[in-house]
Amino acid sequence: MTEHIPVLIAEILAFLQTRPKVGKVLDCTLGLGGYSEAVLETFPEVQVWGLDQDDEAIRIASDRLEPFGNRFHPIHGNFAEAAELAGNAGPFDAILFDLGVSNLQISEGYRGFSFQSDGPLDMRMNRHFSLTAEYLVNNWTEKELSDIFWKYGEERYSRQIARGILRHRENRGKIETTGELVSVIRETLPAPVQRKMGGHPARKVFQALRIAVNDELAVLEQGLSGAFELVRPGASVAVVSYHSLEDRIVKHFFREKQKENLGTIETKRPLIPSDEEIERNYKARSAKLRLFVTNEPGKETKPKW
Ligand SMILES: C[S@@+](CC[C@H](N)C(=O)[O-])C[C@H]1O[C@@H](n2cnc3c(N)ncnc32)[C@H](O)[C@@H]1O
Repeated sequence: MTEHIPVLIAEILAFLQTRPKVGKVLDCTLGLGGYSEAVLETFPEVQVWGLDQDDEAIRIASDRLEPFGNRFHPIHGNFAEAAELAGNAGPFDAILFDLGVSNLQISEGYRGFSFQSDGPLDMRMNRHFSLTAEYLVNNWTEKELSDIFWKYGEERYSRQIARGILRHRENRGKIETTGELVSVIRETLPAPVQRKMGGHPARKVFQALRIAVNDELAVLEQGLSGAFELVRPGASVAVVSYHSLEDRIVKHFFREKQKENLGTIETKRPLIPSDEEIERNYKARSAKLRLFVTNEPGKETKPKW
């Protein structure tokens, strides 16, 4: 079975333990249930609602969390709609986001997220939707592709790669699998450029396509707004992000909420995994945790920074 090692969970639990009440928690990115399980184990009285747009994740996490009986409640849907999906269960004492993809999605070739194992060019977190990476790669213009590779992947060679994809489409037809896309990228970029890129030459293009297919940046803004409608005063909002585009959105969102006098940013700088955590789980290396606490009634916000 696929495992996903929860990232920065010790830091999240340590923070929650400093809070006066942790009765109801909304885990907006249930994944394989690592965060939810840790919260259920740490706080014996807590009830957890776990939301995910991936029905495969919901099924696996629900099986894993069955021992907790009716203390755990799965919800299938997009966290952009958290306010509607979880409104009846709130208000919550803590809302958690662990953004991006789970190990289940990234490591199984058939989900189409991986540049390392071959599979259909899919990349949908919610497989009930119709927009896939295959559609984008084969139907978007060179400019549209180049723009998302640059904007969502921060890929320096965005234009060359988009041109290579178009050339392949014109001369050899559709690109249908992750393996084919990786080959096109490798054929397009000269070997010395690929060596200079550091990581895998397809990494940033895959990140960009994933963000575009799942509209990840727009739904993050909506999800954070929804979370603020669901919290009680004095509640914690914890967000773990894995790339600078997401982290920037979270940082600015929290700053706005602090300016609006809705609460306090608890992390001047984001918390990052310790060397030991990265050694145990290399996938944690880019993680950043930001924490916010909403105002208690009658208390003035006193920004810490
Ligand atoms: C990094 S994993 C979470 C892992 C989890 N914390 C654990 O320890 O097992 C992220 C999960 O969030 C889900 N997800 C990402 N964006 C989402 C969204 N907009 N709405 C609902 N679920 C989302 C993904 O499908 C994935 O299962």
